[in-house]
Amino acid sequence: MSNQKEQHALVSGFSKKTKAEKIAWITENAFQDSEQAQEVLAKYTHPDAKRQNLHDDFIENAVANFYLPIGVAPNFIINDKTLTIPMAIEESSVVAAAANAAKFWATKGGFKARVLGTEKVGQVHFIFDGDPNRLQTFFDTNKAKLLEATELITKNMRARGGGITSLTLVNKTALLEGYFQLDVRFETKDSMGANFINSCFEQLAHTLRELAVQHNPFSASEKAIEVVMSILSNHVPNCLVEAAVSCPVAQLLPNEAESQLFAEKFVQAVRIAALEPYRAVTHNKGIMNGVDAVVIASGNDFRAVAAGVHAFAADSGQYRSLSKAEIKDGVFHFSLRLPLAIGTVGGLTKLHPMVQWCHELMGTPNAVELMQIIAVAGLAQNFAAVKSLVTTGIQQGHMKMHLLNILNQFEATPSEKEAVVEHFKKHTVSHHAVVEVLEKLRSK
Ligand code: MEV
Repeated sequence: MSNQKEQHALVSGFSKKTKAEKIAWITENAFQDSEQAQEVLAKYTHPDAKRQNLHDDFIENAVANFYLPIGVAPNFIINDKTLTIPMAIEESSVVAAAANAAKFWATKGGFKARVLGTEKVGQVHFIFDGDPNRLQTFFDTNKAKLLEATELITKNMRARGGGITSLTLVNKTALLEGYFQLDVRFETKDSMGANFINSCFEQLAHTLRELAVQHNPFSASEKAIEVVMSILSNHVPNCLVEAAVSCPVAQLLPNEAESQLFAEKFVQAVRIAALEPYRAVTHNKGIMNGVDAVVIASGNDFRAVAAGVHAFAADSGQYRSLSKAEIKDGVFHFSLRLPLAIGTVGGLTKLHPMVQWCHELMGTPNAVELMQIIAVAGLAQNFAAVKSLVTTGIQQGHMKMHLLNILNQFEATPSEKEAVVEHFKKHTVSHHAVVEVLEKLRSK
């Protein structure tokens, strides 16, 4: 390799180093100009040490902060209540699109949302070398003991109205020789519940093994249950929320004839996303623009949400659109269903000051209310995207919002920005066109 910085040296005991030592090591080993690399980290480190420590403690080996803008989309009416939604996202046009869709629907009855279920789930995955009927008898005999073993862990959750709602033995030997599961369902109230659920699982796995050893009807190989792993599942098809909008077709656009055509094209676009995976993935990506932005702003686990949402979209065996649209009796209906395992207590919610701020902005929602807000953000985003796609195309709005990024890339001064923005009020934005206008301005 020509450039020695392309290969970093191996390091041991890195996590034991102080933060300053870590920064020194990484900037010296991976950067051509280590001083400049350190300056960038310093700029993105909070001057208030207490605040910075709080963030550093979220993860291991923190070296600075990674900023995302937090924007707000006002004028959402959800179940007749007006709300401003916080969105943490880097993509230029997302907040603007959400705000547009919110305003559009605010004059047409707003968004309706409802939660269809809040069940969380997980499994102890284990291998049992023996007779499935004898395993079933063992399970039936010991089910109460298994549940009893989790009682200390579930005590507080039960006091809040949650806990384990079902425990079953599932024979999965058709998939894999000897493979069984303890399938467990949970209600976790306002918490996402990952730590609670996983603690229950580790206890269940431990007790399962212990009880099997003590179960004398089992042969020696049957007693040696092999727990492969015990973990919650991010596939949560029964933790489901729905968001919907509707209005007479004639009210969709100012011109009635155009309204009909728009509604038909919109429905056709959503139908294509239901049938064609190439389109479905992008269609759902548009939904996730809204979903993820609120999931992040509310301090929730966006990887878990994304994994669950996409699994749900493929539940039929084919990846499909999460939303559907139809025209019925002259009324346009557009709705979205998606699984969302999120929380409003625990995790980052009390720790991250911006997360707390976002919760307060949303009226300190409980988990069910937050599920509704997130689903609405997804539907709004999907509406805005498909509306643009079947009318002007998305680039017009997108590039308008992206204009400032291009100008910042070329380090435009405030007066240059003002002049270029003014120019593009009447012209189509493209990277090439912006550069041209800027060059012309600078050559004057
Ligand atoms: C871009 O971030 C999202 C869209 O591509 C979504 C869509 O095509 O529906 C505009």
